[in-house]
Amino acid sequence: MIDSYPLLRPWLFSLDPEEAHRVTLGNLDRAQRWGLLRCFIDQPASDPRTICGITFPNPVGLAAGLDKDGQHIDALASLGFGFLEIGTVTPKPQAGNPKPRMFRLPEAQGIINRMGFNNDGVDACVKRVRQSEFWQNGGIVGLNIGKNATTPIEDAASDYVTALEAVYETAAYITINISSPNTQNLRALQGEEMLRSLLASVDLARKSLSDRYSVRKPLFLKIAPDLDSQDIGFIADLLLEFGIDAIIATNTTIAREAVQNLPFGNEAGGLSGAPVRQASTHIIKLLNERLANEVPIIGVGGIMSAQDAKEKMAAGASLIQLYSGLIYRGPKLISQCADALKTS
Ligand SMILES: Cc1cc2nc3c(=O)[nH]c(=O)nc-3n(C[C@H](O)[C@H](O)[C@H](O)COP(=O)(O)O)c2cc1C
Repeated sequence: MIDSYPLLRPWLFSLDPEEAHRVTLGNLDRAQRWGLLRCFIDQPASDPRTICGITFPNPVGLAAGLDKDGQHIDALASLGFGFLEIGTVTPKPQAGNPKPRMFRLPEAQGIINRMGFNNDGVDACVKRVRQSEFWQNGGIVGLNIGKNATTPIEDAASDYVTALEAVYETAAYITINISSPNTQNLRALQGEEMLRSLLASVDLARKSLSDRYSVRKPLFLKIAPDLDSQDIGFIADLLLEFGIDAIIATNTTIAREAVQNLPFGNEAGGLSGAPVRQASTHIIKLLNERLANEVPIIGVGGIMSAQDAKEKMAAGASLIQLYSGLIYRGPKLISQCADALKTS
């Protein structure tokens, strides 16, 4: 099938990144409604993988942050993803950081963002997920939850529990996001004592929700790439202690070595795309050594090609997710990765 993204990309890259995002998703929605996407986009071959009791039709998912509010679920699903992670959503709606807050670094195939969890609040998102055809037809929608910027970090657990309760019935799995660099102090939750206390609260809430709904929903934890082997050691132990079902590695990085001399290279926020690939793969390898297949790993960070997807699986991932690669390579990357993983 003809890949029109290389033709569209120069025009999209001439727009402000957040505007390009809005325009692209708006056009995708229209194309989906007119039935064009399934005709013009290569659909990956079926390659089911069962992880945490969920059968994913293929191992390539959408990473959190691209559709924070669940506004484009049916269009994104038509691109061939095996699963979609929606969010990050917080208990209350919030505007996020002032614009501009997203920057392209094309020389490095990277993106820096400091969106700051701009979202319409968890209830609005859940409503949209439930209205989507994809969800109604059994498509896999994970919901990624975080804390409001105005909630003091000491009270973070209550925000996660509130959001967990709101998404529980709807989500196929729930991701506890403690790794965004754009909410003040959020990443402090990756410290041993704070993480223990957060996971204890979340675990307790999940137990009571499991009883209420008679279903135990899988909980995933999403971590940063800026961690060392000692951090990974206690995180792995806590995952096992609190029965966390899978780990998503990784979020964006605060490191800037790879891009500091480039335009926008010193903007505050999290760096994604090719410059985070190695760090993210390194974290997957460390996790894999510690967890020895006990807790599945979802690999994300800098997957720009089918080869990068294979590398994440070789490092120990069971599933992968894409974000920045879609901006640089377009939707064809989804089937390229899925096809490579099927035959590898
Ligand atoms: C603009 C932007 C917004 C993001 N927002 C979120 C978010 O809300 N929650 C989250 O868990 N990750 C978020 N991420 C991180 C991605 O999900 C992913 O972990 C990271 O970008 C690394 O993958 P990539 O190199 O394929 O982009 C965001 C990334 C970008 C580029």
